[in-house]
Amino acid sequence: MPRASTLPRLPWSLPSVKVLITTGLFITMFWNLKYVINLSDVFSKAPKHTKPLMILVWEWPAKQAPDISTDICRDLYNITDCWLTMDHGLLSQADVVVFHHDVLQQSRDKLPKEKPPGQNWLWVSLESPTNTKALAGWNETFNWVMTYRQDSDIFIPYGKLVPNWSATVNIPRKTRLVSWVISNYRRTQKRAEVYKNLSRYLHVDIYGKANNKPLCKDCLLPTTSKSKFYLAFENSIHRDYITEKFWRNSLMAGTVPVVLGPPRANYEQFVPADSFIHVNDFESLAELANFLKTVNSSRYRQFFSWQKRYSVKLYADWRERICTICTKYPSLPQGRVYPNLESWFKA
Ligand SMILES: *[C@@H]1O[C@H](CO)[C@@H](O)[C@H](O)[C@H]1NC(C)=O
Ligand SMILES: *[C@@H]1O[C@H](CO)[C@@H](O)[C@H](O)[C@H]1NC(C)=O
Ligand SMILES: *[C@@H]1O[C@H](CO)[C@@H](O)[C@H](O)[C@H]1NC(C)=O
Ligand SMILES: *[C@@H]1O[C@H](CO)[C@@H](O)[C@H](O)[C@H]1NC(C)=O
Ligand SMILES: *[C@@H]1O[C@H](CO)[C@@H](O)[C@H](O)[C@H]1NC(C)=O
Repeated sequence: MPRASTLPRLPWSLPSVKVLITTGLFITMFWNLKYVINLSDVFSKAPKHTKPLMILVWEWPAKQAPDISTDICRDLYNITDCWLTMDHGLLSQADVVVFHHDVLQQSRDKLPKEKPPGQNWLWVSLESPTNTKALAGWNETFNWVMTYRQDSDIFIPYGKLVPNWSATVNIPRKTRLVSWVISNYRRTQKRAEVYKNLSRYLHVDIYGKANNKPLCKDCLLPTTSKSKFYLAFENSIHRDYITEKFWRNSLMAGTVPVVLGPPRANYEQFVPADSFIHVNDFESLAELANFLKTVNSSRYRQFFSWQKRYSVKLYADWRERICTICTKYPSLPQGRVYPNLESWFKA
């Protein structure tokens, strides 16, 4: 390779030639840039689908079906071209039909006999596999799944942290040590056993139906917020199964969650490592109890560091979850079915 100094020098050393070439380059560059900008502008303005999507919700997942006769996805969540209906008569026109797991548990006859071509059926559940019955026999029925599991086609967590530049640390005043809200206490559950052992070392304030101290909807957070720690014990232990016990009763309330659930690493996929205590962080429940009783205030405050950067967003409204289907729709795989729903979910 010739070195730079051996290249013919004359034309390049002429200032006018340099200026000419550089100017030419710049003009070409800007011309191309302009072209690129214009094109991307055109693309982003183009509608993603030509007609609104029709989402048929076969049965509303919660007891009270809300009024969905207006354009609620646009009005509530700014999601356009997303039409929700519960009218079974529109089956042949629907792009997606949503089946909450409750429907499957009732009877096979509750489902339509045939699936119109091009239509996608979506299986929806927020329960864990332990509490999901009658999942067998749904081979090659559903195209997509929407659950709390991250590997779902549509992932619907119970909550998440959202960045918040104006967030400030706010620790409610503490008058109690540990609280727990429990409506279904079953001795055989892991959480009941852990509670029982832990309560040998410290006092736990228990609320909820199981203890004849039910809390009204608006009393829950003010109550749990008074204690330094909250037992965010899941009813069963499964990957990604992190529920409102963690997001709402603890983080949202401003109390530190002591979690019993999937491994610590799984929680750390969703929240900072120093925002919670895992039951398995300790060799024994005696050690856990000792930590809870003796933690000093600077260490305690550290559990709230996440509040400097994030806020908790809860997902509690089925309307929001269902409207999300339209947002995800363009990126979901077409023409695929789950060969065996049970083996996917129980894996
Ligand atoms: C609604 O969405 C549109 C397009 O995505 C966006 O330009 C607009 O700012 C959003 N409005 C609100 C209130 O978020
Ligand atoms: C569902 O598929 C699995 C394997 O993919 C098979 O073992 C099972 O028998 C099938 N069940 C039904 C009801 O067809
Ligand atoms: C961000 O934090 C501020 C201060 O705590 C709060 O008032 C506001 O609601 C938060 N925003 C969101 C989107 O959560
Ligand atoms: C609870 O205590 C009993 C009796 O000491 C022990 O056998 C059991 O393993 C403990 N369970 C847990 C989850 O620590
Ligand atoms: C508070 O506890 C932490 C961890 O247990 C310890 O490292 C720190 O020195 C303690 N701070 C004070 C002021 O005692």
